[in-house]
Amino acid sequence: MSNIRCIGIATGGGDAPGLNAVIRAATKAAILKYNWKVIGIPDGFDGLIWPEKSFELTLKEVSGILPRGGTILGTTNRGNPFQYKTEENGQEVTRDISDQVIANAHKLGIDAIITIGGDGSQKIGHELFQKGLKLVGVPKTIDNDLSATEVTFGFDTALHTVTDAIDKIHTTAASHHRVIVVEVMGRDCGWIALEAGIAGGAHVILIPEIPFTLKSICDCIAARERAGKHFTIVVVAEGIKLPSELKQMARGWPVGNTIGDAIGLFANKEVRVSVLGHIQRGGSPSPYDRVLATRFGVAAVELIAEGNFGKMVALRAGAIVAVDVARAIGHLKSVDPEGELVRTAKAIGIGFGD
Ligand code: F6P
Repeated sequence: MSNIRCIGIATGGGDAPGLNAVIRAATKAAILKYNWKVIGIPDGFDGLIWPEKSFELTLKEVSGILPRGGTILGTTNRGNPFQYKTEENGQEVTRDISDQVIANAHKLGIDAIITIGGDGSQKIGHELFQKGLKLVGVPKTIDNDLSATEVTFGFDTALHTVTDAIDKIHTTAASHHRVIVVEVMGRDCGWIALEAGIAGGAHVILIPEIPFTLKSICDCIAARERAGKHFTIVVVAEGIKLPSELKQMARGWPVGNTIGDAIGLFANKEVRVSVLGHIQRGGSPSPYDRVLATRFGVAAVELIAEGNFGKMVALRAGAIVAVDVARAIGHLKSVDPEGELVRTAKAIGIGFGD
């Protein structure tokens, strides 16, 4: 058993629906089960640069936050105390302020920290752990691409948002006989595009894991035309790798525009592009995400109570387990191009441009 009296909670990286549910669950379990004091650290590890900004998380403070998107603690996807960027004499300099961050945690009376974040935040957390800070991690990303856990909270809510958007886009595409390209998030992996594409009845899905050609996409559109279907929905993950034929016409971000331009030129169809962007990270978490986030939050508190630091909670075979953060970081969970989900999609005629 660990000798804990006070814990800190920080959220780092991009926000995801369910962060507040983790904060609430961890705070409640810490107070109700263990009688610990809980301190909210604002804006990820940046909050420990200015400890005076930290505040106590009481039961009252976390009341009513379960259905709220975002994070009441604030977050950043730029803060790294090992490479802290600051301006000195008009010049940008990078400094390692990790010792200061650890000292400030101790100054606040924090015995252990729960860091809720994606791969980048867990990596920073692990480096702080190696320097002596007691930490446990809770994985987070709407992209669902962390290999250590079967699911991350936020993904299910994002799927609902994207599926709803595709449903709505369907009616316009069908009414106007258009091709509509829907760009979704997924910086490295195509989980959102694949699952929301299947759920929303997309006709073509482009993901980073499957190389594609413009010809193959246009062949799908032409085949649909011949079958009397004069509209096509193309779902594109933002992280796709453009084939060389399209690189010359690329007009930068968002990549969906390049796909839309290319289809417009070669498929002789009217094309529109819809980039869903950050609406995918917002909104109230789905019931699934609320439950998973609550399980993760309580499990993180239990790890601290057991003195089991340097671990991250994860979902495996439906159960909550603890994995070594050191082993969890840096491993992406990619879509298997030969896997059951892709084969299912192909079996119902969805094209991947391959
Ligand atoms: O990692 C989650 C994610 O939503 C990615 O899919 C996306 O590329 C990125 O965050 C966007 O981050 P930002 O908020 O900095 O634009």
